[in-house]
Amino acid sequence: MANLSTGTAYYAWFTLYLYDFWVLCISSSFAWGCSTWNILVPFFKSHVGRRHLDVGVGTGYFPARAGDTMEALTLVDLNPSCLSMASRRIPQPKNGTKTFVADALEPRMLPSSLPPSLKSYDSISLMYLIHTLPGPPGYKLQVFRNAKPYLKEKGVVFGATVLGKDVYHNLFAMLLMWVYNRLGIFDNFGDSKEEVMKALKSEFEEVRVEVIGCVLLFVASQPRETSKQE
Ligand SMILES: C[S@@+](CC[C@H](N)C(=O)[O-])C[C@H]1O[C@@H](n2cnc3c(N)ncnc32)[C@H](O)[C@@H]1O
Ligand SMILES: *[C@@H]1O[C@H](CO)[C@@H](O)[C@H](O)[C@H]1NC(C)=O
Repeated sequence: MANLSTGTAYYAWFTLYLYDFWVLCISSSFAWGCSTWNILVPFFKSHVGRRHLDVGVGTGYFPARAGDTMEALTLVDLNPSCLSMASRRIPQPKNGTKTFVADALEPRMLPSSLPPSLKSYDSISLMYLIHTLPGPPGYKLQVFRNAKPYLKEKGVVFGATVLGKDVYHNLFAMLLMWVYNRLGIFDNFGDSKEEVMKALKSEFEEVRVEVIGCVLLFVASQPRETSKQE
């Protein structure tokens, strides 16, 4: 048993660093044209708030570099091993880290039994999540509607996603797009800046987006009242 868990731990750390190296270091800069270190980390740090919710945490790279702004952190991912890896890696904020296995495409991501303090955040991040979600933009972009109930009135939702439409892809990007979409790792041929803007604007009054390379950075605040009773 001991050997097995040591093996699993090595494997976990190996995949962790391989992911960071390949996705965040190589692909981000050379395929997507948006440097993790120069663009995404400063972007994350400038929007993260005291109570933060990270959806699709992966290896926890961004919250691990967020500095000491965060006082309470909640992590959501479909994959429980991402949650355990990420929460071990991210320095504990003052009020601790909570993790939940949940689907961002489900309207109630967090358990309804949680105390109100765990259901309201100053900031919510969706980093490199949307391009991996399945379905046409009209379906998968419901993540914004699903995240909104957990945002404080003055809170901010932000993130980055690789666009598949109406942006320039270099040869490396085209190759990765093709392979990843083919394997189902990405589903983003239909994702354009306009689609993402439209989805954000139907949920938030204030929306700012910027395209760097083929990555869309978005920041949205002032959640609109939802007409539907929930
Ligand atoms: C490409 S990784 C990005 C990780 C991290 N945010 C980053 O930027 O490095 C996408 C993450 O989202 C998670 N994920 C995919 N679909 C999800 C869903 N429907 N709900 C919640 N998490 C999801 C995956 O398990 C994975 O950890
Ligand atoms: C941290 O915990 C303290 C004590 O429970 C609470 O008063 C404070 O509001 C919490 N801070 C955040 C950012 O949740």
